[in-house]
Amino acid sequence: MIVVKTPEQIDRMRRAGNLVAQTLDLVEQAALPGTKTATLDALAEEFIRSQGAEPAFKGYMDYPATLCVSIDDEVVHGIPGERRLKEGQIVSIDVGVRDGGWYADAARTVRVGAVSPAAIRLLTVTQEALRRGIEVARPGNRLGDISAAVQTYAEENGYSVVRELVGHGIGQKMHEEPQIPNFGRPRSGPELKRGMVLAIEPMVNAGRAEVRFDADKWTVRTVDGSLSAHFEHTVAITDAGPDILTQVD
Ligand code: MF3
Ligand code: CO
Repeated sequence: MIVVKTPEQIDRMRRAGNLVAQTLDLVEQAALPGTKTATLDALAEEFIRSQGAEPAFKGYMDYPATLCVSIDDEVVHGIPGERRLKEGQIVSIDVGVRDGGWYADAARTVRVGAVSPAAIRLLTVTQEALRRGIEVARPGNRLGDISAAVQTYAEENGYSVVRELVGHGIGQKMHEEPQIPNFGRPRSGPELKRGMVLAIEPMVNAGRAEVRFDADKWTVRTVDGSLSAHFEHTVAITDAGPDILTQVD
């Protein structure tokens, strides 16, 4: 069952979403060559708790941290630790917040110092794939319209979309129905309705789509070693169009 939210509930999620956006801004600023990924995690956790909210990922299925920090060929769910960032890397930062019982979830892939033109292109295309998915998140469209918009744009640009991981509904739980694949057919799947709130999250690989899990049971990386990028927003579907909750407004 897909839970629809009232405008008041959406505004409560927007509070969580604002914190998510501010956390990502803070972490992005700190993602410099030489910074430990555990330092980014501590910064994020302190900020979220200072605002009277809680990190959503920590403890979820025994996940040990506030952030997922995934470097270069790591797709998602990299665990922060003693590794230090290096110039030229791309780093996907994913964070969820629970505020007053409501969740928001977002991610972005950022550059560490100067990065290659190939890396910049991957980031630009993945961000645009998310924008195109959000653009069609409107009442009367179908879930498959979002999936197809993301897939088509990524593949037109010579990249592939990850199949094993998907976006999701979000609200009083971090993961609600529906699942939102980053591939699919236009005009397929459930109809999008006012009040649905979706975490849309393209994961795009520069090379092949296949991924594998590391021995830590969390880190997902590309099988071919190619770079991967991840952008995510929590978006409410309204009569006035898509409403991005994970931005500072
Ligand atoms: N943004 C990811 C998701 O939507 C983050 C989950 S990480 C976990 O599933 F640790 F919380 F599992
Ligand atoms: Co998510």
